[in-house]
Amino acid sequence: MKATLAICLVASISLVLYFGFSGQSRWLHCPECDSILKNSSTRRYTAGDTFGVATSEKTNVSHILFGIGGSVKTWNKRRHYCELWWKPNITRGFVWLDEKPSENQTWPETSPPYRVSEDTSRFKYTCWYGSRSAVRIARIVKESFRLGLENVRWFVMGDDDTVFFTENLVNVLAKYDHNQMYYIGGNSESVEQDVIHSYTMAYGGGGFAISYPLAAELVRVLDGCIDRYASFYGSDQKIQGCMSEIGVPVTKELGFHQIDIRGNPYGLLAAHPVAPLVSLHHLDYVKPMIPNLTRIDSVKKLVSAYKMDPGRTLQHSFCYDLRRNWSVSVSWGYTIQLYPSLVTAKKLEMAFRTFQTWRSRSNGPFTFNTRPMSSDMCERPIIYFLDRVQSVGMGQTLSSYKRSVPEDGQDCYWRDFLPAYAFQFFNVSASTLEPDFWEKAPRRQCCEIINGTDGVGSMVHVKIRGCNHWETVTPP
Ligand SMILES: *[C@@H]1O[C@H](CO)[C@@H](O)[C@H](O)[C@H]1NC(C)=O
Ligand SMILES: *[C@@H]1O[C@H](CO)[C@@H](O)[C@H](O)[C@H]1NC(C)=O
Ligand SMILES: *[C@@H]1O[C@H](CO)[C@@H](O)[C@H](O)[C@H]1NC(C)=O
Ligand SMILES: *[C@@H]1O[C@H](CO)[C@@H](O)[C@H](O)[C@H]1NC(C)=O
Ligand SMILES: *[C@@H]1O[C@H](CO)[C@@H](O)[C@H](O)[C@H]1NC(C)=O
Ligand SMILES: *[C@@H]1O[C@H](CO)[C@@H](O)[C@H](O)[C@H]1NC(C)=O
Ligand SMILES: *[C@@H]1O[C@H](CO)[C@@H](O)[C@H](O)[C@H]1NC(C)=O
Ligand SMILES: *[C@@H]1O[C@H](CO)[C@@H](O)[C@H](O)[C@H]1NC(C)=O
Repeated sequence: MKATLAICLVASISLVLYFGFSGQSRWLHCPECDSILKNSSTRRYTAGDTFGVATSEKTNVSHILFGIGGSVKTWNKRRHYCELWWKPNITRGFVWLDEKPSENQTWPETSPPYRVSEDTSRFKYTCWYGSRSAVRIARIVKESFRLGLENVRWFVMGDDDTVFFTENLVNVLAKYDHNQMYYIGGNSESVEQDVIHSYTMAYGGGGFAISYPLAAELVRVLDGCIDRYASFYGSDQKIQGCMSEIGVPVTKELGFHQIDIRGNPYGLLAAHPVAPLVSLHHLDYVKPMIPNLTRIDSVKKLVSAYKMDPGRTLQHSFCYDLRRNWSVSVSWGYTIQLYPSLVTAKKLEMAFRTFQTWRSRSNGPFTFNTRPMSSDMCERPIIYFLDRVQSVGMGQTLSSYKRSVPEDGQDCYWRDFLPAYAFQFFNVSASTLEPDFWEKAPRRQCCEIINGTDGVGSMVHVKIRGCNHWETVTPP
């Protein structure tokens, strides 16, 4: 009796599952996906309406499957960006190519393994100013899903020129329950781009993440969306078209950077929001982020700081030296600005407009506030760039920054600037951020100026630390 009941129960559950999942026409669009879900159904559907067994195990890098949009022709030019963050045998994923690399071309071991995308000539693409490759790139998430790899919680899409800051990406994703449907990424910095392509989408170059259950819904409707949204320019827009149909909005995370700007990215990077740095993109389209270095070497320098303290990279701290009436703005691991006057925090946190918009190359608007960078050196801060970072034990780092003399300006001979110019270096001590720092309510850290050394090659010493109770950056 009991056994019969159990069998009936199992049978009826199977029927419910069968009709619940296969009875809908949307399943017809991806029969292979169907079998992948069936294969993992014991693992993923055991709890009825929730995906997967509830697990308390924290998300780590092994739970992410990267899908990088690449092409045979551009890979050699672009791969150094990817190889900055790709860790063979640790990061999982593939570069998806338009064709097989020629036989005599050995695939670099430092690159992610490649796959060749399926033919997409049957799909419609009608955006006159765009490229059909958008269709192929949009389908990477589906082709990745269809691989049926085990223990994938997130599908992360990126371009071949996206630099991911993987530890931070993992920490950001770990905040979200991967058993729910999440679509996570960021907008374009240029309002004109958001107006044309939409504010509701996660921009593909900055990278975006789709949780497993959302990917399972997406792959079912994706091919239809590609034809329905044939007039959309980008792969990311086509994906967002599907997201609208599923009804899942983008969850914006401030660390994803599409870098839809032209000119010098300095102002943008030196004013990072209080959120971990997750990605950078389009670095070949902007000036090197550190003067006197090539594009790639300047990113490498930032990455060298990132490796010492991932969560702190680009994070702001402001402090005043009331003895000298100085304001100091630290963007950790990148740059320091020294103002020989007391500048409000409100102003210090605003990006210098060293760049223009992506499409029309105008002075704005951007999706954040900017302030002009004067050509008058007396109205600019004195700028220092990262020289090196070292670990000094006890979870502490010491980073040094060297004064940079801009090509386009003379020193300011105004009285207040002269003593400040004597300082060629900043040394910044900080403790590496606690692993749970970004799980707490965000707050910029504080800093204080410690006596440095005077004389030739003199140095200002700054210490970054958590703010004390009632401590604010308030001029007297
Ligand atoms: C499903 O599992 C079977 C047996 O483990 C395997 O042979 C088959 O390739 C799997 N199918 C997919 C789509 O992963
Ligand atoms: C990631 O988590 C899984 C458990 O889901 C664990 O088996 C694996 O060892 C972890 N990997 C790393 C690199 O921490
Ligand atoms: C990655 O793993 C494969 C197989 O386990 C091994 O042959 C290869 O040397 C590893 N590569 C690196 C860079 O560790
Ligand atoms: C590789 O082979 C292609 C033709 O298949 C040829 O055009 C190309 O020059 C070869 N490259 C090298 C490096 O030998
Ligand atoms: C700092 O600024 C205040 C107010 O502007 C001024 O009274 C004071 O003399 C200045 N101190 C120095 C050392 O310049
Ligand atoms: C400044 O920092 C660098 C490491 O970044 C270190 O080598 C140097 O000794 C420091 N200078 C002083 C005076 O502490
Ligand atoms: C660039 O290098 C030259 C020569 O090495 C040096 O004089 C100049 O100060 C450097 N510029 C910056 C911005 O560091
Ligand atoms: C150190 O600070 C004291 C006052 O706090 C000041 O008198 C002295 O000049 C400073 N020394 C240096 C080297 O800046």
